[in-house]
Amino acid sequence: MSLAQRRILLGVSGGIAAYKSCELVRRLRDLGAEVRVVMTEGATHFVSATTFQALSGQPVRMSLWDAEAEAAMGHIELARWAERILIAPASADLIARLAHGFANDLLTTVCLASAAPVYLAPAMNQQMWAHPAVQANIDTLRQRGVHLLGPASGDQACGDIGSGRMLEPMELREAMVASFGNLVLRGLKVVVSAGPTYEDIDPVRFIGNRSSGRMGFAVAEAAAQAGAEVTLVAGPVSLSTPPGVRRRVDVRSAAQMRDAVVDAAAQADIYIAAAAVGDYRPAEVADYKLKKQAGAPLELRLSENPDILATLAAQTVRPFLVGFAAETHDVERYARDKLQRKGLDMIAANQVGGGLGFEAADNALTLYWADGVADLSRASKTDLAHQLVAKVAERYRTVRG
Ligand code: CTP
Repeated sequence: MSLAQRRILLGVSGGIAAYKSCELVRRLRDLGAEVRVVMTEGATHFVSATTFQALSGQPVRMSLWDAEAEAAMGHIELARWAERILIAPASADLIARLAHGFANDLLTTVCLASAAPVYLAPAMNQQMWAHPAVQANIDTLRQRGVHLLGPASGDQACGDIGSGRMLEPMELREAMVASFGNLVLRGLKVVVSAGPTYEDIDPVRFIGNRSSGRMGFAVAEAAAQAGAEVTLVAGPVSLSTPPGVRRRVDVRSAAQMRDAVVDAAAQADIYIAAAAVGDYRPAEVADYKLKKQAGAPLELRLSENPDILATLAAQTVRPFLVGFAAETHDVERYARDKLQRKGLDMIAANQVGGGLGFEAADNALTLYWADGVADLSRASKTDLAHQLVAKVAERYRTVRG
């Protein structure tokens, strides 16, 4: 285990668990991490900046308005410096301010100004943690890709028993080590497709589907974090490009997506097809707005779209191909059928409906390959994406050496 030269910004907000963060700084540094501490005003009521300064070997920042500190390393520089932002403890107040995009102190400002992944270790009274306001803020942050570490259950400093304890320093350190992974895709080029496709009927109408693109974007981010050079081909979605993704190509229709993917895949080692590609498009696209013919049914003739995965599978030199299969029933049978029919190396299948799949923050996947299977249990799309990428890397190394 090593964190050698890893740059971790530790945010400390106001809570009694702040004393454990002193230990955390030591443990992170034991593994070679560079740690810079940013404290909120509340945190200074629990632990002094001098303690963190001595332990981290770096000046501790507390205020946006400290001219001397800004001259040494400005807050934007600090935001860029960080490879990871770990906030421990994360108080209810800090969580609320992050969820609502506040920039009213140095720590929240740095979080907004940084592309680094943010890890939160909440710590608060169990009643506060269970409060719907706190839970709604946590949901917002999770959907935005913030990683949640804990909280744990147990005895609390206030005498209560329940969920809200900050994870122990060693557990937080393990999470940091795991977050850097071991760059399982280092040196590989990966293309990820994501989102729906839209097939125009006329200038104002289209046939689309309910894919949000979140799973594919999470996969692209996880692949980038695993060291891959990622090209993301995105259908019409309203998501910002994940940090670390090298190139993004925005497309609308299945035909455009095929062209962009085929182009990018020519150089790629792995293609992960997370897009929900429309199977059909209107046979004719009207170049004027179709008018309603009252009382008469409208008939649309549809033509079949190109199958992007099958197109790549038919090439003699082709990347390692990973497909997705969203099914409402008979998941394994349909998934294995697609694996074979489309000539894929692996397929990630999920059941849609029941709060999972499209438009949901959580998902559950089962991976199938010719002679194997792996279950990734229900988790956030971000966490699943990391598990998927780890498995893809493992299979890729097995098959392609
Ligand atoms: N896919 C593709 N090109 C298409 C349609 C789908 O590359 N024209 C890819 C998707 O990106 C996904 C996988 O194929 O990775 C499975 O998509 P799905 O729509 O479930 O497969 P279909 O073959 O269309 O099967 P179904 O009859 O279930 O729609």
